[in-house]
Parts: sequence; structure tokens; C-alpha cells
Amino acid sequence: MVVSPRVDPGAYHESEGTHTRKTNLPLSRVYRLIEPGPVVLLTTARKGRANVMPMSWHAMLEFEPPLIACVVSNRNYSFQALKATKECGINIPTVDLASAVVRCGNSSGRTVDKFTAFGLTPTPASLIAAPLIAECYANLECRVVDTRMVTRYNLFVLEVLTAWHAPSVKQAKTVHHLGFGTFMVAGKRITLPSKMR
Ligand SMILES: Cc1cc2nc3c(=O)[nH]c(=O)nc-3n(C[C@H](O)[C@H](O)[C@H](O)COP(=O)(O)O)c2cc1C
Repeated sequence: MVVSPRVDPGAYHESEGTHTRKTNLPLSRVYRLIEPGPVVLLTTARKGRANVMPMSWHAMLEFEPPLIACVVSNRNYSFQALKATKECGINIPTVDLASAVVRCGNSSGRTVDKFTAFGLTPTPASLIAAPLIAECYANLECRVVDTRMVTRYNLFVLEVLTAWHAPSVKQAKTVHHLGFGTFMVAGKRITLPSKMR
């Protein structure tokens, strides 16, 4: 019979060669551990009003056509625009735009023209009515293809119809949300042999 050693999950955690005492983490903070992708700026337009909303709760669902799941709170002005128009831009900012990102996330398109207020330049998209953001190094034009989980989770599934990027930006310093104004900036890269694309 193999006897497994008793493991106290709260005791020690081996990480980077050190043993560190662990404490219980409030469930409300779990999201900070699971690195989301870069913070993106969701652009919408409805009834002649264009808007920008920072978004960090998103996930890739499919390679091609690219599908992206995203959570847009029904308390946000962007929610109604996304639900009604079924299209949006996903604009990916770099660290130089971090201040504008936070300011966009602390105000609402209900009362503020965020493009003007925070110095962002709207540029026409090719397939959707919502504008793209010129200052972002990549822009995706998307349409909503699945709304079955909107009522329950505020979760929309987007299909990327066409995508734009600045080839001159080789290693984009994207920002990754850790909560309450703290961000991780993309940095060092490593490449290992792997079959995964
Ligand atoms: C870094 C950051 C990430 C955010 N991520 C999300 C998100 O994933 N989903 C969401 O609904 N709101 C998110 N928010 C909050 C909205 O951006 C915020 O409520 C915004 O004011 C909504 O704008 P609107 O009312 O113009 O749509 C985030 C805010 C920040 C600053």
C-alpha cells in the first residue's frame, strides 16, 4: 500500500526555490491570479454616440474565425449599445495609454465623450459602424454572434471580422489588469520548443 504524505494545503508552497507560508485568499480576489489577456478598449456607437470602455474580462474561444468571449456589465452604457447594434471594436492599447484607459474606466459614456475627454482619436472601421482607436497598436472589428449567456452572465461571444495591427510594433507593451489601478506590463519573452501554435 502506498501511503501518501499528508499535505496541508495551507502550509507551504514551493515557488521559485523558496517555501512561502500561504494564507487563504478571498474568492473575490481569485480573478487577479488568473492572468487575463491585455486590457482592451471596447468601442461602440449607437444613435450617433461613440463610446470607449476598458475591458479585461475576455477570453479566446476559437482560432479561426477568431471568437472572443467577453463580459460587459449591464450597468455599463456600453452594454446597451453592444446588445442593440451587435457590433464593436476591440482596440488593444499599450502602456503609454494606461492613464487614458483608467480614466475611460472611471467614467461613463452616458455623460462623457471619452474620445474628446481623454485624447483618443476615433477612426472609421471598414466593416462596422463603431469607430476604432488610432492610438492603439491593434484593432479588431467584431460582431456579436452569440447572446445566449448575456442574460445570465453578461457574456457576449464576438467574431472578429477583420483585424488591423501596426507591424512596426514588435513587442507591444500591453497592460494586464491586477485590480484597483494596478497593472502588469508585458515584458520579457521566452521561446521554448512546443507543438502548440
Ligand atoms: C482596467 C479595467 C478593466 C475593466 N474591465 C471590465 C470588463 O471586463 N467588463 C466590464 O463590464 N467592465 C470593465 N471595467 C469597467 C468599465 O470599463 C467601467 O464601468 C466603464 O466606466 C464603463 O463605461 P460605459 O458606461 O461608458 O460603458 C473595467 C475597467 C477598468 C479600468
